Parts: sequence; C-alpha cells; structure tokens
Amino acid sequence: MITLETARVDVLIDAEAIAARVAQLAKDIQHDIGDEPILLVAVLKGSFVFLADLCRHFGSNVSLDFLQVSSYGDGTKSSGIVQILKDIDQSLEGKNVVIVEDIVDTGATLAHLRELLWLRQPKSLRIVALLNKPETRKVDIRIDYVGFEIPNQFVVGYGLDIAEKYRNLPFVGVLHPEDLS
Ligand code: PRP
Repeated sequence: MITLETARVDVLIDAEAIAARVAQLAKDIQHDIGDEPILLVAVLKGSFVFLADLCRHFGSNVSLDFLQVSSYGDGTKSSGIVQILKDIDQSLEGKNVVIVEDIVDTGATLAHLRELLWLRQPKSLRIVALLNKPETRKVDIRIDYVGFEIPNQFVVGYGLDIAEKYRNLPFVGVLHPEDLS
C-alpha cells in the first residue's frame, strides 16, 4: 500500500507488468495489421499515458491522433449519451485505425465511437483497451485487444483519475473506499 497525501492506494497492476503487457499488445496489433500504416486514435484524457507507451513500440508506419468525448458524470452514467468534445484532425478513409482506450466500463463510449468512426470509412477499425471491467458492461462491444481484465473497483493511475488527480501514478491502483469522497 502507498499513502498519497491523504489517500491510500493499493497497487493493482505494477509498472513492470504494465510495460510488459503494453509491449505485447503493440506486437499483436502490428502482427494483425502488418506493414501497412497504422493510425492510433487515443480517447482523451485517460489514455494519454497508455498511448505514449504503446506508440513507442511501433516503427515509422504509425501515426497518432486524439479525440475527446464528454464524460457523463455520475448522474447520467447509464444514459450512454456520448458527445464529441474534440474530434480527430484527419480523414479516416482507407486507414487502419486503432482506437486506444484506458478503460472499458459500461462500454457505452466505445460502442458509440465505433459506430461513429465506421461511418468515416476506415479500411479497418480495431479497439485496444488497457483495462476491461467485464462485470460493469451494459453495452455489448468487442474489444480486439485487452491489456488486463479487472474487477469492479475504482482504479486510478497510469492515466486514470479521480477528480483529475492520480493520472501521473506509474501503476494502476485501487483507492481505499473510505478515501473516495
Ligand atoms: C473513461 C474512459 C472511457 C470511459 C469508459 O473516461 O477513459 O472513455 O470512461 O466508460 P464506459 O465504458 O462506461 O463508457 P472518463 O469519462 O473517465 O474521462 P477521462 O478519460 O477524461 O478521465
């Protein structure tokens, strides 16, 4: 357990395990797409650390872009309403696109994004998620590459936050329930 100011965080997945898994995910993606250009599209903000590590396992055939969607906030978590706050800067037509997510919870965000991005006629559209919480799924969504399956616990670190804190932790951790407020 690590104590960060007032909050206690248990390490769920350490930096070494993340690094090894991220390397393997990149290998799997590269293997499936081959030598063709790959466009990694990170869903901000949570996936910025994952993207930074993932992209450095590729060669010069990779390019990057970003989008940001609205978070629903607690009250509307189940509504599945997702709005684009920042769109991708380029056309996806004919490209091998990989959506990069930090975590899949209900699946609503990715289900919406997959539908939206398919309309832009990429050659292929895949999803890589570092973390997957199968217990909380509400929308059926195929995730092509999963880093780790995790239980239904509130996780922070490696890009994931609570009220914008802890994104910079080098590991994925679980906050003690009494420190969540
Ligand atoms: C998280 C995560 C996904 C989404 C997953 O983002 O990065 O985008 O929630 O949830 P879902 O499967 O229930 O749709 P968040 O709203 O926390 O925003 P952030 O990445 O900016 O922290």
